[in-house]
Amino acid sequence: MRYTAAKGRYQEMIYNRCGISGLKLPAISLGLWHNFGSVDVFDNARKILLHAFDKGITHFYLANNYGPEPGSAEETLGRVLQQDLGSYRDELVISSKAGFYMWDGPYGDFGSKKYIVASLNQSLKRMGLDYVDIFYHHRPDPHTPLEETMSALDLLVKQGKALYIGLSNYNAEQTQKAESILRELGTPCLIHQPRYNMFDRWVENCLTTVLDKRGIGCIPFSPLAQGLLTDRYLKEIPANSRMAKANFLKESALTEVKRHAIINLDKMARERGQSLAQMAIAWLLSNKTVTSVLVGASSAAQLDNNLGALDNLEFTREELAKIDDLCKPVLVA
Ligand SMILES: NC(=O)c1ccc[n+]([C@@H]2O[C@H](COP(=O)([O-])OP(=O)(O)OC[C@H]3O[C@@H](n4cnc5c(N)ncnc54)[C@H](OP(=O)(O)O)[C@@H]3O)[C@@H](O)[C@H]2O)c1
Repeated sequence: MRYTAAKGRYQEMIYNRCGISGLKLPAISLGLWHNFGSVDVFDNARKILLHAFDKGITHFYLANNYGPEPGSAEETLGRVLQQDLGSYRDELVISSKAGFYMWDGPYGDFGSKKYIVASLNQSLKRMGLDYVDIFYHHRPDPHTPLEETMSALDLLVKQGKALYIGLSNYNAEQTQKAESILRELGTPCLIHQPRYNMFDRWVENCLTTVLDKRGIGCIPFSPLAQGLLTDRYLKEIPANSRMAKANFLKESALTEVKRHAIINLDKMARERGQSLAQMAIAWLLSNKTVTSVLVGASSAAQLDNNLGALDNLEFTREELAKIDDLCKPVLVA
């Protein structure tokens, strides 16, 4: 059936300014790492994307290698753009990135200008787009001069193939250096994407201070610790869960100490009138450095649940201290 976007789609979402830029991002963005590949059911992927847009999620986030097969998540989005969302292109922020292995030979990985420029050209073809809104370098490359990687990103902006530039997985010092180079080139660094959730707080202090000082936005990935910070694994490991299906979330991650913390956090969330997933998202949004929280979802119902986080974003000092206490035994800092 022909898709028409919901009329009230901008009424409930919160839009936050990204750093000191002119761009606003929805408080919740959707990542297409899992569940959007060629191995997944297209109708479900389409349903999640359209539901997201109907709920005011204007930002879809990809990478060259998302699938499996690598590249197929971009193709899925391309298909949905072609059949449903194409006429809404100017209401969408579409992001992609390069930095991990994508193709064989010396030019398909890391951070050379050769790889980055070729990779975005390929991504644009797969999505059927002329430009992406944000293009990221996926991870620092220890062997390529930072100047070369940043000048590749700058080139793509100057060519009109990307509007803004982002960095992912760069530490505080690397971010500072990259930001200075980009600024000199005349292409500001818009946004940084670190792993950040209640269990993994390496970004706090060092990286967040750099982001605040330099006016860079922040979009945490894996805000639910890939599903651990939800009710998904409270009783068992469901057969259709990421832990059962994919290699990225191993059973060994669910230690007894972690399970104990999850049970107590879940109880606390319910006392706040939220699901654990909602509390985990709200907790990130209570950090003023955070522009948008990048969630994943395997169904439209999960996405809806996550959107409910916006109904209660407030925490008392006691609640924040209690969360710190419950997470302490499993904290990555
Ligand atoms: N820059 C990087 O290096 C990097 C690395 C990783 C991820 N990312 C990006 O960040 C995005 C988000 O990461 P992520 O997928 O790990 O995020 P996440 O939000 O921590 O985990 C998403 C998974 O949690 C489960 N889930 C989500 N909502 C739920 C709910 N309400 N109740 C129960 N379970 C729920 C689903 O797992 P099931 O599949 O089990 O249902 C879902 O696939 C990715 O799509 C990707 O775009 C970037």
